[in-house]
Amino acid sequence: ITFPDVRIVEVGPRDGLQNIRDPIATKTKLELIQRLKETGLRTIELTSVVSPKAVPQLADCRDVLGDPSIKQSLTEPHIRHPVLIPNIKGLKIAFEHGVREVAVFVSATEGFSKANINCTVDQGIARAKEVTSLALQSNIVVRGYVSCIFEDPYDGPTSPASVLHCVKSLLDAGCYEISLGDTLGTGSPSSVRSLISYLREHGIPLENLAGHFHDTYGQAVANVWEAYACGIRVFDSSVAGLGGCPFAPGAKGNVATEDVVYMFHSAGINTGVDISKLVNTGVWISKQLSRTNSSRAGTAIHIK
Ligand code: HMG
Ligand code: MG
Repeated sequence: ITFPDVRIVEVGPRDGLQNIRDPIATKTKLELIQRLKETGLRTIELTSVVSPKAVPQLADCRDVLGDPSIKQSLTEPHIRHPVLIPNIKGLKIAFEHGVREVAVFVSATEGFSKANINCTVDQGIARAKEVTSLALQSNIVVRGYVSCIFEDPYDGPTSPASVLHCVKSLLDAGCYEISLGDTLGTGSPSSVRSLISYLREHGIPLENLAGHFHDTYGQAVANVWEAYACGIRVFDSSVAGLGGCPFAPGAKGNVATEDVVYMFHSAGINTGVDISKLVNTGVWISKQLSRTNSSRAGTAIHIK
């Protein structure tokens, strides 16, 4: 067995789909997850269990989690399937479906916190702590997200101190890793480097951090590379560059998994992913959703 040098957390089935208005059939979501798995991706976020009013697209989360193919996948030792949850209600539903990993999420900023989870930053942290503690008691591991690491859609620029506060609180709560979310996609490599340096100087171990970059300003691949150069080894991405949040208007999709894999493979860095299967999956899902494929590498490799 060769172990990948970087771990990719595929968030396509969750972040990728959550902001799409037209209904997507549950069976398309299930096929997407299956195809992603066949590319060699070992961590695939399945869905979220959130208020269906907040995110109507993922209101079928129980059907996704209850499908026999997912039930089977949830028992496989080398596969990780995090499910995003905001509260105890979400945790209970995930638990009932045999989920072994959940992701909690807070915002480093007040405006997005209010819009996204209807509470203040500190209330969000308190809720995440409560959920994490209960999850750990049930042998469910917990990943944490901190959103708006550089900017908030309502409040403007984010102070690094508030990112640190959230990261520290979630690690103290027992999250094994914190994914740093550039929700608006306004960050660039220099802001990535300065935030990572700041967190490291304040005692946050790099092995507990992951990068989650949205591509609004076309900086996402560069941001992944810069974070890698800073020592980060876990990256969230979405096949075909799908993604976005209903509460972050104007933000574009996640960095495309194809682009990240292409970049790392070009540098001799192993991801464990079969690029041609991944490209085909990106082409397939774009066609299913009648959307332009946002992966540049995916599009180029496909037409070659
Ligand atoms: P609220 O209105 O304050 O809370 O919402 P509530 O407890 O009063 O619940 C409202 C309704 O939702 C109730 O239903 C609850 O039962 C139901 P009603 O009685 O009105 O019929 N409900 C739930 N249903 C299913 N599953 C649940 C659940 N909880 C409550 N878990 C709440 C607060 C947090 C629930 C809501 O604001 C919410 O669900 N927010 C989630 C929004 C969301 O999913 N955003 C996108 C994900 S975050 C993201 O994309 C960023 C990330 O990618 C990183 C980055 O890019 O930065 C992670
Ligand atoms: Mg996101």
